[in-house]
Amino acid sequence: MPKPRVYCSHELFEEARKILDATCDVEYWTPAERPPREEVVRRVKDKEGLVCLLTEKVDERLLRAAPKLRIAANVAVGFDNIDVAACTKRGVVATNTPGVLDETTADFAWTLLMAVARRLGEGEQLARSGNWKGWNLDQLCGADIWGKTLGIVGFGRIGRAVARRALGFNMKVIYTDAVRAPEDAEKPVGATFQDMNTLLAEADFISLHVPLLAETRGLFDAPKFFRMKPTTFLINTSRGPVVDEAALVAALESKKIAGAALDVYENEPFIHPGLKRPNVVLAPHLASASLETRTKMAVMAANNVVSLFQGQMPPNMVNPSVLKKR
Ligand code: GLV
Repeated sequence: MPKPRVYCSHELFEEARKILDATCDVEYWTPAERPPREEVVRRVKDKEGLVCLLTEKVDERLLRAAPKLRIAANVAVGFDNIDVAACTKRGVVATNTPGVLDETTADFAWTLLMAVARRLGEGEQLARSGNWKGWNLDQLCGADIWGKTLGIVGFGRIGRAVARRALGFNMKVIYTDAVRAPEDAEKPVGATFQDMNTLLAEADFISLHVPLLAETRGLFDAPKFFRMKPTTFLINTSRGPVVDEAALVAALESKKIAGAALDVYENEPFIHPGLKRPNVVLAPHLASASLETRTKMAVMAANNVVSLFQGQMPPNMVNPSVLKKR
């Protein structure tokens, strides 16, 4: 039996390569930069499997070019780069990597929150500049974190992991979501469900943890910023388009909010020039980027591919109806 042919748009990590190479004939994209779109479309033409990153669009056009494709395995939990309906229509399984990155992403949301509250970006620049004249009473005074109110938008696995960390800071935690979480999720972290407008009005830090869907695109727009306190910071480690970037820039310019800490952007890797200001901390989409976690994500994607070709249900299908139809 010939091995199934797989295109992998990244060379992954050795642990994941071993899993794939054992049972599949894999072609890897090895340059450091991301492959051009046309390259991916060309390479998948004769492949049965695709392992891709969130930078690759798996859309109708790519699927049409790859008639033998049976699986698109995303190395990410968010899968807004994949047209799931188009995959389902063509019988292509789509998978993601849920669970393994929750704690690492929550760590990073806190990294950003603390950095923006305590003006770490500005402080670091000053310390490196050679212009620091020494301690001063009113130098780079930021905002306290402890005892404040943390507002979590999207109380799923990552939102809850962010809430857990707030306990150590003696914070009040409020959250909003499409549906209220069960009591056993709220209670251990002392989180209280609120409607969006109450959360906007009360939270000192607002951290976003929703997936990018039609309903969440542009969720944080001008009216939302208008309801926030001028002392509030926005933290986004979810997806860039959840925030209307032009509205955020306007809110920062007019001091409607105190600042922002962002890991994701509307049109990555482009960053709106209006965001490059002292009260905004900018990171290049790093929230899940610990070596341990990124390795786990790659291994998970590899296992999803291998299990399908071994006749099993891939563990992390986002469109399980595809296999039921067969
Ligand atoms: C990263 O952004 C992911 O969705 O895993």
